[in-house]
Amino acid sequence: MKSKILALLREREDYVSGQELCERFGVSRTAVWKAMGQLKKEGYRIEAVQNRGYRLAAETSVYGQHELESRMDTRWAGKPVCFYEELGSTNLQAKLDAENGAKEGTLIVADMQTAGRGRRGRSWSSPPGTNVYFTLILKPDFSVELASMVTLVMGLAVAEGIRETCGLEARIKWPNDIVVNGKKVCGMLAEMSTEREFIHYVVMGVGINVGRQDFPTEIAQTAACLEQERGYPVPRAEIIVNVMKAFEGYYEIFCRDGNLAGLLERYNGMLAGKDGEVRVLDPKGEYRGISRGINSTGELLVEREDGAVEAVYAGEVSVRGIYGYV
Ligand code: BTN
Repeated sequence: MKSKILALLREREDYVSGQELCERFGVSRTAVWKAMGQLKKEGYRIEAVQNRGYRLAAETSVYGQHELESRMDTRWAGKPVCFYEELGSTNLQAKLDAENGAKEGTLIVADMQTAGRGRRGRSWSSPPGTNVYFTLILKPDFSVELASMVTLVMGLAVAEGIRETCGLEARIKWPNDIVVNGKKVCGMLAEMSTEREFIHYVVMGVGINVGRQDFPTEIAQTAACLEQERGYPVPRAEIIVNVMKAFEGYYEIFCRDGNLAGLLERYNGMLAGKDGEVRVLDPKGEYRGISRGINSTGELLVEREDGAVEAVYAGEVSVRGIYGYV
């Protein structure tokens, strides 16, 4: 009920009477009064005026269960939200929940992680009060070969969510990162459980650097955060809600087509380093070429000096700009 009250106060931008709240939610005046007290404790500035009712006095940047629920403007992605002050890893929690029957669209969010996981067995430093860490549970009915493309769909949604929330020109560093001004602001980690061709679930983990600036030395040159790039505060809940909204639409197109054809133009339009020179770090031998964007199965097309075009599969190699990370 608290999330619904919040959503109503936000939408109305004016006083809503206690009577209306009681009737709408089928609860007593005392229950409404208690809910308001709890919301105030969470940090919301709610004014109560006799004979007029309750009003959300100002938008505060509260981050938590009710803020996310009350803003989530989707049909299924990000529903329900399970918010934790602290978790080992949202991916790990999502896997447990998926095993225990959590439905597609369930979103696990944590303010901090004590054992955040990065790719290639690395850790993902996850301090409290500053960044975004979430994992979305998916239970697709497509076959295993399509699973790796889910990361690309999420990449598109994150880039779009950042653009929408912050007005920054976020770009996708194929296949797993999002960059702003050439520096990494987001990493993604998809994990899944499969049985032959069948996917039990995919958990899609996303970590976005929103406010943190003191990066570990090994990534200090290549990492950035949104607030630093934008120059003023970025509301964490709004980013998540915008990412979920974008993801829902893109994922439906992807599932309908069974490939990325319907998203190609948009994806390649946001791809970092497109039509620029790249180094392909192939275990069979490094080579250079021009990045020509991805194809409908998510491989990166790299044009070699002799004009031949290689379709680079994400699992096998890394791709770098010739002057550095992007
Ligand atoms: C990378 O190495 O770039 C991927 C980092 C992914 C981090 C996110 S934070 C939320 C989710 N939970 C985790 O433990 N990892 C992912």
